[in-house]
Amino acid sequence: MRAICNELIDDFIAEGQIDAAARYTKHIPVRAIAHMLGIPESDSDLFVNWIHMILELGIKDENTLLQAVHEMSAYFSAHIEERKNKPTEDLISYLMNARDKEGNPLEDSHVLGSLRLLLIAGIDTTWSAIGSSLWHLARTPADRERLIAEPGLIPTAVEELLRAYSPVTMAREVIKETTISGCPVKAGNMVLLSFPAANRDPKMFPDADKVVIDRRENRHAAFGLGIHRCVGSNLARMEMQVALEEWLKRIPDFTLDPAGTVTWSQGTVRGPRQLPFLLGKAM
Ligand code: HEM
Repeated sequence: MRAICNELIDDFIAEGQIDAAARYTKHIPVRAIAHMLGIPESDSDLFVNWIHMILELGIKDENTLLQAVHEMSAYFSAHIEERKNKPTEDLISYLMNARDKEGNPLEDSHVLGSLRLLLIAGIDTTWSAIGSSLWHLARTPADRERLIAEPGLIPTAVEELLRAYSPVTMAREVIKETTISGCPVKAGNMVLLSFPAANRDPKMFPDADKVVIDRRENRHAAFGLGIHRCVGSNLARMEMQVALEEWLKRIPDFTLDPAGTVTWSQGTVRGPRQLPFLLGKAM
């Protein structure tokens, strides 16, 4: 992760004026997942495009969504077939060798579904979280300076940044008529699980709307709650920590570029998609 971050920084550090979403945050999770799955990093653009088609365009256009799912399935099926003759040391082969409780191998469709889910769940979530964190630090020099002086505080700050700028909102279908906080819901209704709103609940968090980078008690719900809680939460935390550590070591001073516009994603995952920065005192 450190090598990936530094390679990205090397590429733009001399420029002074960059879009940090396009040049940095976007690439980190895709490359990490490519390494884990054992697929070429050079296919990263394909993955980013599928995620955009599924999570953003796909919300309003089912054909685009289906096309992306179809392309993704064909891509991973080819990788599964390849590994049947030539097993590898990566996560794809690991899933293919996994056994269920009865000792049976997982069906190809199960391996394929797991790979699709990892890609969909692991990329723009973390990209968004790193982006919102840098956006916050660009606008809050006091927090930036404190993290540079006390890098040991970065893991605590990451939890607070996850709480304050939670990237993910999910939904559920109601299966049985019930009442939630006084609101009746019927079977078949859809409900949104707004983890970002829960994370700003003043009953749970004192000064809920303030970003307190050394907040000690922080039982946030950015990774969800219950049986579907994020399986990649510790990977995401590590990626965020390393991305911030490496950035702050080499770019201690940066601000939003007043000549540019910050844009945010639409849909169930929220994060900056354009992040124009001016880099000062880069090292
Ligand atoms: C900051 C980054 C991330 C955030 C905020 C996040 C958030 C979430 C949330 C809120 C859920 C629960 C969804 C629900 O209740 O239906 C979830 C599930 C999941 N996440 Fe993450 N996630 C992140 C990164 C990752 C990464 C890096 C991976 C893997 C590479 C990953 C894999 C998954 C998977 C597979 C699930 C589904 C678990 C299940 O349904 O049992 N996530 N994530």
